[in-house]
Amino acid sequence: MPANPHIHAIRPYQPGKPIAEVEREYGLHAVSKLASNENALGPSPMALLAAQKALAQGALYPDSSAFSLVRCLSERHALSPGHFVVGTGSDHIFMLLALVLLNPATNAVISEYTFQTYAIAVHSVGAELRVARSGPHLGHSVDHLLAAVDSGTRLVFVDNPNNPIGSYLDRCEIERLLEHLPPETTLVLDEAYFEFADLPDYVSGLAYLDRYPNLVVTRTFSKAYGLAGFRVGYGMTRPDLADLLKRVRLPFPVSHVALAAAEAALSDEAHLARSRALVSAERPVLAQGLARILPEVFTGAGNFITAKTPIPAQDLFQKLLEHGIIVRPLGSMGLPEHVRITIGLPDENRALLKALSDILV
Ligand SMILES: Cc1ncc(COP(=O)(O)O)c(C=O)c1O
Repeated sequence: MPANPHIHAIRPYQPGKPIAEVEREYGLHAVSKLASNENALGPSPMALLAAQKALAQGALYPDSSAFSLVRCLSERHALSPGHFVVGTGSDHIFMLLALVLLNPATNAVISEYTFQTYAIAVHSVGAELRVARSGPHLGHSVDHLLAAVDSGTRLVFVDNPNNPIGSYLDRCEIERLLEHLPPETTLVLDEAYFEFADLPDYVSGLAYLDRYPNLVVTRTFSKAYGLAGFRVGYGMTRPDLADLLKRVRLPFPVSHVALAAAEAALSDEAHLARSRALVSAERPVLAQGLARILPEVFTGAGNFITAKTPIPAQDLFQKLLEHGIIVRPLGSMGLPEHVRITIGLPDENRALLKALSDILV
């Protein structure tokens, strides 16, 4: 049975190893997952309560327009509801963008070290994937991204801050990118880690939405809001593009339980503040500890730290599993000598540093 040939180009997404699998394989009970940049504090209690209440409506289809959540988001971001498209995680929005804007005669540009789903989305629709070389310190390079763009480029994906390095394009670089992209090329600014990016020269793409019709900004409830398992993300762009994106969505992309949880999480400012405070307090402590053991540390602006390893990252990953700690070796992202470590609870971070020093020092 012949499949579409471009599907063979897809390298399956490699998720972080689940806790249950490590517990089973290693006979452990208290495994710490520092592999997928989830929120170490878990979901907001208000979100959990809202989700529990929503369960009783389980016989009904959810609101496919996500009316109530979109109304809250629209107030939050001071944009009309027509600017929003809600999906099954922000991953879903990247897929919708590929479906609407790409075809086999077009191309999309990504950076060398970046989030894996963009490549899957581009290959899924048979478009050409162009990979721009990274800049210094493995982050995105506006010059290299622009050099890869031509008249066939319909999408440029930029995660800001980026995964896996955690660095970001600052205000000047974002503005330079937007100014130089042709109008037929849409820039997707993926702001999955927006809430953790606390440096003054970091700017959200939202500030540019009214000036650049070829801009899409995506956000997620999976990271700072602690709802990765619920699968809710959204895109913001000009209403006529948002309308096209909604046309190719499945009819009921987000369950009513997830919608209720997301809406409650949005109103739980205290939980968000605690989540950000944990990351900003632990980031320098973990980074300093790692720098004593590992040859190079990229502290970044997200809720994770990437570091170079003195032994192959896959081997270090295996050894850490024996200590009940799951990190992410970055071979599948083109960095076989790097691991990415989610910033966990203080005890988890100390336990990781201890395990690393037992293994390597
Ligand atoms: C840069 C980046 N974008 C998007 C996502 C996916 O987010 P979601 O759970 O909303 O699909 C991730 C998840 O790791 C990410 O690192």
